[in-house]
This record gives sequence, structure tokens and C-alpha cells, in this order.
Amino acid sequence: MAENERLRVGVLGCGPIAQAAHFESANKAGNVELHAICDVADDLRERMAATYAPRKSYRDYDEMLADPELDAVIVATADAFHVAAATQALEAGKHVLCEKPLGVAVEEVEALKRVVDRTGLVLQVGHMKRFDPGIQSAKAFIDREMGEMLALKAWYCDSTHRYAMTDAVQPQIIRSKAAKRPAVDPKADLERYYMLAHGCHLLDVARFLGGEIIEVEARLNHRFGARCWFVDVAFASGALGHLDLTVAVRMDWHEGFQIYGEHGSVIGKTYNPWYFKSSDVDIFHEATGETTRILGADGHFYRRQLEGFADVILNGAAMTGADIEDGLASVRGMVAIARSVHSGKPVKLAEVTGAV
Ligand SMILES: NC(=O)c1ccc[n+]([C@@H]2O[C@H](COP(=O)([O-])OP(=O)(O)OC[C@H]3O[C@@H](n4cnc5c(N)ncnc54)[C@H](O)[C@@H]3O)[C@@H](O)[C@H]2O)c1
Repeated sequence: MAENERLRVGVLGCGPIAQAAHFESANKAGNVELHAICDVADDLRERMAATYAPRKSYRDYDEMLADPELDAVIVATADAFHVAAATQALEAGKHVLCEKPLGVAVEEVEALKRVVDRTGLVLQVGHMKRFDPGIQSAKAFIDREMGEMLALKAWYCDSTHRYAMTDAVQPQIIRSKAAKRPAVDPKADLERYYMLAHGCHLLDVARFLGGEIIEVEARLNHRFGARCWFVDVAFASGALGHLDLTVAVRMDWHEGFQIYGEHGSVIGKTYNPWYFKSSDVDIFHEATGETTRILGADGHFYRRQLEGFADVILNGAAMTGADIEDGLASVRGMVAIARSVHSGKPVKLAEVTGAV
């Protein structure tokens, strides 16, 4: 592997996320080659092969995994297939970048963790916001300068206008009737779907900046088709936390965070990811009385997460993305929020079992 300049990646799934993020990322990344793509839907796969020019194209996932030239797999399938697909890749000796959420239940992700531990291969979760330069600037300030954290608030509020906005900037998404879908429609239960699709981003950003979450107490309000989760969070550090997941607000995309620290404070505004714009993060430094904000940063989080993943494998760089523990913690967090809404009581993440 060390002599390879580029990580040879195969993308499993030619659906919307592969089309809008992973194919372009693999072609643009400086240290990656789009070696293969795979999808059971022939029409979709053939069209994507013509557009993105991978070296190989597979209908059958086992055949792609048997390719000795393949180094790693991006799992870009529906959530319900993530753990099985990631496990298969690891067992075949391939590193894995798996879309978020890593899984849909605690036990399956724990089983995947045992495979990661046994194989010693790299598994990174597609929590790409960790590669947002604005969010990274907040993390650097927290780690190096901020001192103790008093409290963290984070919000992720999808917009009723999101498709009007994202359709304008995403490539035209091609769909196929032959695509492999989970037995149960993921959108059959919208509360579960919103938590898996969006809640996992909110939890991961909160953990990235605030550290381990040990307990949550959540309430859910459902009116006029909108759902709002307010979640009281206890961080292991002793910091107080509050998370707000709302789908959808009757306004623009509304995502961000605020942190009160010992030697300063942070306030961040995150954009809808399809604008590929780094978050606006204002950092107030108590010592100098100044506020700083990085500008003009490279906001292609999807390409940057792939480059980071490849750097870990090719050069032994430290993992800066979400690892198996982070993926598991995010799933535990989502389950804990769902259980707390149901019981009306605080729930410890370490004690939850079952599916979101
Ligand atoms: N990080 C982000 O910002 C972000 C945004 C959107 C979606 N996602 C995630 O991306 C994932 C995929 O979303 P999507 O909308 O592209 O999914 P999708 O289900 O529409 O598409 C997945 C494709 O994979 C193919 N496939 C599945 N299993 C296969 C197998 N075993 N062999 C061959 N082909 C197989 C299907 O045929 C389908 O074409 C989801 O987990 C979602 O949460 C992440």
C-alpha cells in the first residue's frame, strides 16, 4: 500500500449521495482513484460509469470485493444495508468509508466494531461535517485555548424550502426502478427517518465539539407536519448541553452551535451542505478581546473526508473523521433520544439496546 500514491476506491451504490458527493469526490481527491463502482441497477450503473469513468464497473458486490486491485469501499447504500456491506468489505480485506448513520441498531454496530477490531482495517463514518473547516476551527479553539466548557447548544433545523434550494445546485439526480431498496420503506416512519437522516449529524457535531455524551432527556412536539425534538444533554465533561432537531422549520435552513467556554465563546452558523460552504464560525478570545473567523476555506466536506480517510490508510495519518466508536456513540444517542421521548425520563447512552 505504501507505494500507492492513490487509494483505489470502489463505491457501493450509485444512488443520490454517490451522484451528488462521492463520485465527484473520488475523482477530485488528490490521493484517491475512482477504481470501481457497483450497483445492481444496470441502467443507473451504466450511466454513472459513462459519466464518472471508473476503471471498473460491477453489478455484483462480491465480485467488486474480490478485485485484488481494490483498496477500499465507500458504502453509499440505504442505512439498513450499511452494517452488512461494511462487514463484507472488511472481511474481504478492504478499508471502509461508510455513509452515516453507521447502523440502525446498537447490537449490529457493536458486532461491526468486533469485525473492525479483529481485522485492524480502517473504518470511517461519513460524518462529513468533521471536515467543515469552520467546525474544525471551533474544535481547534476548544482543544487548545478555550479551557473548560460550561455549555453547548446545537441545532439542526431542516427547511421546508430545502428541495427548492438543493435542486438548484445539485447535479440532476438519476433514479432507477431497479435500485435495491430495504424491505421496509425508510420513510414509512418519519420520526425514525428524521432521527437517522438528520439526528445523527446533530449528535456527531455535538460530540465532536463537546465530547462524550452520557445521558439525554428528550421531548418531541409534532404539529402541522413539523417535528421538533428538544434534548437536554449531559456531557461526560460536566458541560450542559441542549440539542434542537426540527424538521422542518418554516424558514431557511437553520443549523449551528454555540459554546460558552472559560477563555472564550464560539458561535457557528452551518449552511445546507449542498452549498459546499464552510460554516461561519465566530470565535471570541477572552484574552485579547478579539473575535476571529476563518474565511474562504475549502468547503467540499465530502472530498475532504475522503482525502482524510485515504491519508490514514496511505500514510498512517491520525484519523480525524468519525471512527467506529463515534459511529456507535451516534447510534446510541439516537436510540437514547427515542427511548427518552417514549418514557419521558432521562436515558443513559451506555444502557440502551435495540433499534432507533
Ligand atoms: N452525508 C450526507 O450528507 C448524506 C446525504 C444524503 C444521504 N446520505 C446517506 O447516504 C446513504 C445512501 O443514500 P441514497 O439516497 O443514495 O440511497 P439509495 O438507496 O437511493 O441508493 C443506494 C443505491 O445502492 C444500490 N445498492 C444497495 N445495496 C446494494 C448491493 N448489495 N449491491 C449493489 N447495489 C446495491 C441500490 O441499488 C441503490 O441504487 C444513506 O445512508 C443516507 O443516509 C448521506
